Amino acid sequence: MEGLRLNSMIHFLLLFVFFVFSQRVNATEPVLELTKGFEAKPDSSFNTFQPLLTDPNQNFSFGFLRVNGSRLSLAITHPNLTDPLWILNPTHSASWSHKTKLTFNGSLVITDPSSRVEWSTHTNGDRLILRNDSNLQVVKLSSSVVEWESFDYPENTLVENQNFTSAMALVSSNRLYSMRLGSDFIGLYAKVREGSDSDTQQFYYKRSALQAKAKVKDGLGPILARINPNGYLGMYQTGNIPIDVEAFNSFQKPVNGLLILRLEFDGNLRGYLWDGSQWVLNYEAIRETCDLPNPCGEYSLCTPGSGCSCLNNGTMIGECSHGIPETVDFCGGEKTVEIRRGGVEVPFKELMNHKTTSSLSECEEMCVEDCKCFGSVYNNGSGFCYLVNYPIRTILGVADPGKMGYFKVREGVGKKKSRVGLTVGMCLIAVIALVLTVAMVYVGFRIWSREKRDLEEDNGLSPGPYKNLGSDSSFRSVEMSRR
Ligand SMILES: *[C@@H]1O[C@H](CO)[C@@H](O)[C@H](O)[C@H]1NC(C)=O
Ligand SMILES: *[C@@H]1O[C@H](CO)[C@@H](O)[C@H](O)[C@H]1NC(C)=O
Ligand SMILES: *[C@@H]1O[C@H](CO)[C@@H](O)[C@H](O)[C@H]1NC(C)=O
Ligand SMILES: *[C@@H]1O[C@H](CO)[C@@H](O)[C@H](O)[C@H]1NC(C)=O
Ligand SMILES: *[C@@H]1O[C@H](CO)[C@@H](O)[C@H](O)[C@H]1NC(C)=O
Ligand SMILES: *[C@@H]1O[C@H](CO)[C@@H](O)[C@H](O)[C@H]1NC(C)=O
Ligand SMILES: *[C@@H]1O[C@H](CO)[C@@H](O)[C@H](O)[C@H]1NC(C)=O
Ligand SMILES: *[C@@H]1O[C@H](CO)[C@@H](O)[C@H](O)[C@H]1NC(C)=O
Repeated sequence: MEGLRLNSMIHFLLLFVFFVFSQRVNATEPVLELTKGFEAKPDSSFNTFQPLLTDPNQNFSFGFLRVNGSRLSLAITHPNLTDPLWILNPTHSASWSHKTKLTFNGSLVITDPSSRVEWSTHTNGDRLILRNDSNLQVVKLSSSVVEWESFDYPENTLVENQNFTSAMALVSSNRLYSMRLGSDFIGLYAKVREGSDSDTQQFYYKRSALQAKAKVKDGLGPILARINPNGYLGMYQTGNIPIDVEAFNSFQKPVNGLLILRLEFDGNLRGYLWDGSQWVLNYEAIRETCDLPNPCGEYSLCTPGSGCSCLNNGTMIGECSHGIPETVDFCGGEKTVEIRRGGVEVPFKELMNHKTTSSLSECEEMCVEDCKCFGSVYNNGSGFCYLVNYPIRTILGVADPGKMGYFKVREGVGKKKSRVGLTVGMCLIAVIALVLTVAMVYVGFRIWSREKRDLEEDNGLSPGPYKNLGSDSSFRSVEMSRR
């Protein structure tokens, strides 16, 4: 009896010591490297991010990121950035379950038997470390040979001094936009339709190298881009002399902080500077909202200075494409409705191909006859005819009425819209009728009761709610629904 109690007390004490010790280790000792034999599983108590490794300054963490509630990915985060700096290509996401395992055996390996995901760095290193610039590396013990690094696999963010090569792409977190290098430029591309061929992408922004300090030469190989700590995005072909300098706001101002560049969900490329307490916007590739790839949504119009509206002014702002069935093309004999309007222009027209036609009708005709064409825009002045071969997105509104647009909309929309409109209208009439009936009955009652009261006491003037009921609010809503 006595022995048993002592035993369990010792057991308890040991557990307690172990608990305190392990808590202390967790709380105070940052993990600065992972060595061979490391193994970790996701812990259900972490809602968003489970840290596993930190950099020497403890600015960044590497760990498990919970995606969509139940998926797991690997990520590198900074506490003051909502989006991770780096995330393992989300197509490799595993499940957030105790069956999923991350190991380091020379390779960083993630295995998930239930969703049959297995991803590996395919290396034979000795340690996994997180550098003070957020670069995650598999390195050899003896030398500082780097076998694998996260800087080679950027996701939507580029960090100061990280080399962005022509083999890489930045992809926005919604996977709609990408940044790639051309022979002498930086290009941004929007995914405009499903599929894998090249016409799924619309080129919407180009930064050509100015080549002021160095020229691009044939045979010297592809260019690369890199954020220079002096406050610019540089393009380089060889060495450290840039072929282009795209200045950030902090250009040539002595700042002490880290610069990052990020391709964001709206398709803009933005630079941020860590100033010691927060990330400050430091650069924006596209300054005008209407120059973004799709600021107002499908079948809409963006007019500088006055914002978004719909191509078809019968539809409500914010849902210009509401009810338009998704269409790959019009080659299946789909019935179409046509929208024509002046004062429109294709966005990024300098990056789109055009034909020259002698008249507006000739331009439209080319689109009418091509079942893959969704619309055409004709410039009366220049004779340029632009054909859009993907579902219409945001079109640019311009002052010149001679720039004429022709757009195909799959039928079903207008009809559906008007039917919806009709139903709403009928409901409203019914409601108004009801309100009026109630009001009349009420007023009748009041008059009756007042007369009755007037008869009873001579001076009874009681203001009824008659005027309020009649009134403004319901009429305003009728007018609004008509708009
Ligand atoms: C997250 O969920 C959304 C919608 O449920 C889905 O479209 C998306 O592909 C999911 N993402 C991942 C990484 O599983
Ligand atoms: C940055 O993150 C840390 C840790 O979450 C927090 O304490 C701090 O207030 C944040 N700073 C700003 C400027 O948001
Ligand atoms: C590490 O583990 C993976 C998966 O179990 C295995 O395929 C790989 O050969 C191992 N690598 C080394 C260096 O042991
Ligand atoms: C980052 O680490 C490098 C060496 O790896 C060092 O030279 C540099 O000063 C460090 N920077 C900061 C901000 O800690
Ligand atoms: C980037 O490339 C340059 C030249 O190609 C090289 O000197 C430098 O070490 C690279 N930087 C990193 C972080 O890999
Ligand atoms: C990193 O840590 C250092 C020292 O703690 C701090 O001065 C610096 O602002 C931090 N940088 C970032 C990007 O958080
Ligand atoms: C749309 O608005 C324009 C300009 O306000 C007008 O000229 C045109 O007739 C309208 N179209 C429709 C279908 O209401
Ligand atoms: C287009 O140009 C022709 C000839 O220059 C002119 O007659 C016509 O009015 C223009 N149309 C529009 C819509 O501006």
